[in-house]
Amino acid sequence: MRSFTNKVRSKIVGKKSPVILVSVFLLGAGGLIATAENANRIVPPFQIFADPDGALATVNLNGLTDTTTNPFFQDLGSNGRRCVTCHQPSDAWSVTPQHIEERFAASNGMDPIFRPVDGATCPSAGVSTFEERRQAYSLLLSKGLIRIGIAVPPNADYQVISIYNRYGCNATDVISMYRRPLPTTNLPFLSAVMFDGRESSPATGTTKIVYNNYPTSLLSDLAHQSLDATVGHAQGDGTRPTPEEQQQIVDFETKLFTAQIHDRFAGDLRDGAKGGPAPLSAQPFFISLNSSVHFLLPAFEQPGGLVTPGDGQFTSNIFNLYNKWAQASNDDQSAARRSIARGEQLFNTLQIPISGVAGINDDVAAGGLVAGGIPTLQGTCGTCHDTPNAGNHSFPTPLNIGTGDPSPANRSVNLGGLDVSYLPEITVCRKDATTGPATNNCKTTTDLGQALVDGRFDHVGKIKGPILRGLAGRAPYFHNGSASTLMEAVNFYDIRFNLHLSDRDKNDLAAFLRTL
Ligand code: HEC
Ligand code: HEC
Repeated sequence: MRSFTNKVRSKIVGKKSPVILVSVFLLGAGGLIATAENANRIVPPFQIFADPDGALATVNLNGLTDTTTNPFFQDLGSNGRRCVTCHQPSDAWSVTPQHIEERFAASNGMDPIFRPVDGATCPSAGVSTFEERRQAYSLLLSKGLIRIGIAVPPNADYQVISIYNRYGCNATDVISMYRRPLPTTNLPFLSAVMFDGRESSPATGTTKIVYNNYPTSLLSDLAHQSLDATVGHAQGDGTRPTPEEQQQIVDFETKLFTAQIHDRFAGDLRDGAKGGPAPLSAQPFFISLNSSVHFLLPAFEQPGGLVTPGDGQFTSNIFNLYNKWAQASNDDQSAARRSIARGEQLFNTLQIPISGVAGINDDVAAGGLVAGGIPTLQGTCGTCHDTPNAGNHSFPTPLNIGTGDPSPANRSVNLGGLDVSYLPEITVCRKDATTGPATNNCKTTTDLGQALVDGRFDHVGKIKGPILRGLAGRAPYFHNGSASTLMEAVNFYDIRFNLHLSDRDKNDLAAFLRTL
């Protein structure tokens, strides 16, 4: 483990990676790119897939992975599911409604992704006829959503008052939520595993990922996650993956790097620029590397504290892939490239008045991340997406930006045109004391987020921001698939934070996001 750890770290932190990369690319050039015959048998060192906006690519730093033996691709449970069932290389290691629909059509709805346990809107749904299956798997087919059922922690400081779930999963002890499969690629940049961080939390016997324990914590969290995923999604009996298989899964998934590589308007994203997965695989990273929240709020990390080398060094220039394209000359392709460069610039500099975001603007001093809170923080996209060229949080920072707020009547903030009417509505009220009755301090949400991990009312709806790479290949966006396109995600921000973006700004931002 230790030598594996050190190996990964040296790759992540970067000094040796250019050398490693050269050899990987020589192998790639030597003809190990997947062919029609071997496409399903190997994950080659370098693999390209077409996607709606061009093409995405994955670098596999393992060299060549044999999918007939690697446990990521094996049936380790009881329902035919494998990791790859929901984490497909062609979908930037997530799954997309379009390809799920194809699998439904090809298998009559019997492909292993269609299993009642969490593929259906509720396990009780009938699945014996084709029409029933179409109904039962409707959220999977339309939005690529998997049902995540999580028990309310016994020590929760809130009570679940009511659940409206049109699909029937109305239990108030185990809460059903619907989430997108996060990509199993670019994982070395993670500061929290799962949307709610539950696989990086003492509450599940896993470890919070901080500067001092990274990457050991990340690797052990991912090993634990692979076991939970098999028991949960694949209805395994807990004996597999064995510790050795867990190690193989983690070893495999932590050496994948995925990004868009070709844009249908701008062409090759490496041409005079730094798009594609190869530069990403050599991108230095450590926890809190560029944490803006640290910088702006010194009280963020409490005494007893941790070394935080990112302190004071925050730059809002998160992405520097396409700056050279700002000067591209005058044809259609150059116009597309200039738009992308402008979008990158907007991502880095656009001023965003951040308010109403639980995790930044609230007062959760008692054990919370932000002591005091600030009513409005003048930030940028990078305040929350601060990891250079990766775009997730470089420090565990669960936030509630309102993507899970329920349908219009109950909205606490403006949803920015996102329709979440297909999701359940969950109302919870803070308890008077740990055992006392519920107060009338209540919240209604479609996803309890971190509050189901640690039982804290203050953490309702808080989730992590995912890595912003390989986006074009894995629509729809946000944890609940509520933004069908990147333009819809941009529109959400425009309205949610009163940005008053021009059409050109919106187009530039969306064009940029599509190249990540
Ligand atoms: C039925 C579909 C399904 C299967 C099968 C599945 N996953 Fe997932 N995976 C998901 C969903 C959905 C999430 C996000 C859930 C959440 O955050 O609550 C996820 C999240 C993850 C993450 C977290 C990534 C991050 O950014 O935090 C990892 C790692 C992962 N899965 C690995 C695996 C492995 C390894 C296996 C096989 C042992 C596996 N998955 C099997 C659906 C699946
Ligand atoms: C206040 C913090 C914050 C700011 C500011 C912010 N984001 Fe986010 N972003 C998040 C969080 C949290 C999520 C996860 C939301 C979810 O999944 O529901 C997210 C998710 C996303 C996603 C979806 C990724 C995916 O895999 O589904 C995109 C795209 C995105 N942000 C782009 C941007 C852009 C562009 C800006 C600037 C205009 C921006 N964000 C500003 C916190 C923020």
